[in-house]
Amino acid sequence: MDRIRIVGGRNLNGTIPISGAKNATLPLMIASLLTDQTLILDNVPRLADVSLLQLILGNHGVDIMVGGKRSGETADHGQTLHISAARIVDTTAPYELVSKMRASFWVLAPLVARMGEARVSMPGGCAIGTRPVDLLIMAIERLGAKIEIDGGYVVARAPHGLKGAEIVFPKITVGGTHTAIMAAALAQGTTVIDNAAREPEIVDVADCLNKMGARISGAGTRHIVVEGVAKLNGARHAVLPDRIETGTYAMAVAMAGGDILLRNARPELLQAALDVLKHTGVTVTPTNQGIRIARNGAELAPVEVTTAPFPDFPTDLQAQLMALMTRARGVSHIVETIFENRFMHVQELARLGARIQLEGERATIEGVEQLKGAPVMATDLRASVSLVIAALAAEGETIVNRVYHLDRGFERLEEKLARCGAAIERLSG
Ligand code: EPZ
Repeated sequence: MDRIRIVGGRNLNGTIPISGAKNATLPLMIASLLTDQTLILDNVPRLADVSLLQLILGNHGVDIMVGGKRSGETADHGQTLHISAARIVDTTAPYELVSKMRASFWVLAPLVARMGEARVSMPGGCAIGTRPVDLLIMAIERLGAKIEIDGGYVVARAPHGLKGAEIVFPKITVGGTHTAIMAAALAQGTTVIDNAAREPEIVDVADCLNKMGARISGAGTRHIVVEGVAKLNGARHAVLPDRIETGTYAMAVAMAGGDILLRNARPELLQAALDVLKHTGVTVTPTNQGIRIARNGAELAPVEVTTAPFPDFPTDLQAQLMALMTRARGVSHIVETIFENRFMHVQELARLGARIQLEGERATIEGVEQLKGAPVMATDLRASVSLVIAALAAEGETIVNRVYHLDRGFERLEEKLARCGAAIERLSG
């Protein structure tokens, strides 16, 4: 089991290339099921979740060719995937695959839209919460599919195709919105989606689907309209930069001190998080190459933050912000409103000397002068990187165990940080 060893106290200076967004790549790959032609995706990050989804799509009969290196390309370039779902030979997504990555449940919509049937394992809970899929099922049912739950599988049937309808989400759900858009793209007639998620990844997927011939308007707002079409074609689409990776490295620089260019980052994808960072005293400077983040000696001011759907402060940056605030000059409060159990990094941060109190969904972080390195345990993707952020400023050595969580969502993290001066290395085995 790989571990990561960090010796804190080094500043970070230089450039960090931001990879394509994991949370756009996964639904974009799944959207390939909607057409029998080839979808080409550029700027795809090299992540464990992407490799796993390739396996899952392969099980449905999808061919995926990974483009080779091109002259002048470095490892900082994303990879190109040529994805062809010409023939879907199996409409079942098995438990042993879906249980490994929750987003694979999203194959339900394109399978039932294109094939008239789907049998997808319920994903089960995960470390950060129960994460039900009732709203994703509601969306498919509203479009005319017959749904039954059989032995832990969602069985959806629409032998005569899906029909446009009005879908009103009682709560904002990213997966629900992806599901509704993908199913509606091939439905007969018009679908209106109300209280839709506004995340940039929704917009990126809608942009790609429109290149494939879909007719989607309003993506990025709470009100999306989809005119169904008979079939979709292939297209070529570049994945947008990862706003969560951007925010994560911005907080790493803020914690360690230094001056870093986050290359290819786009400020409008994470403005709320950048505003919070500015409030802490960090310098945030958009440039034509990305975003420059610097903190040279200034103290970190405490913050009051509540996570919420886009465009507000993202839950996927909550653990990273908490790590940063362990060294603020004063007391911060962070309220987590999206997931019911997304504070598992708290106990691990406490092992490094952080002072954090929890009352339900509210965390109170009392900044301390100095953290001290220690062995810690990663529990989920974003919690694991919060431990890396804390370790960058902790005195002495920190060993982060179970780094497979990190590999799910951060491409070559230790290399990107080491290139900027961090004392960080991966210990294999
Ligand atoms: C997406 O998950 C992201 N995953 C998550 O990122 C992210 O934290 C989350 O959106 C919120 O922004 C991907 O994009 C692959 P939701 P998703 O449906 O779609 C409840 C990461 O670290 N809900 O927006 O599963 C749910 O329990 C991951 O990259 C229902 O009640 O999240 C949660 O409380 C972690 N019923 C809230 O809605 C449903 O049917 C928001 O969940 C669906 C969701």
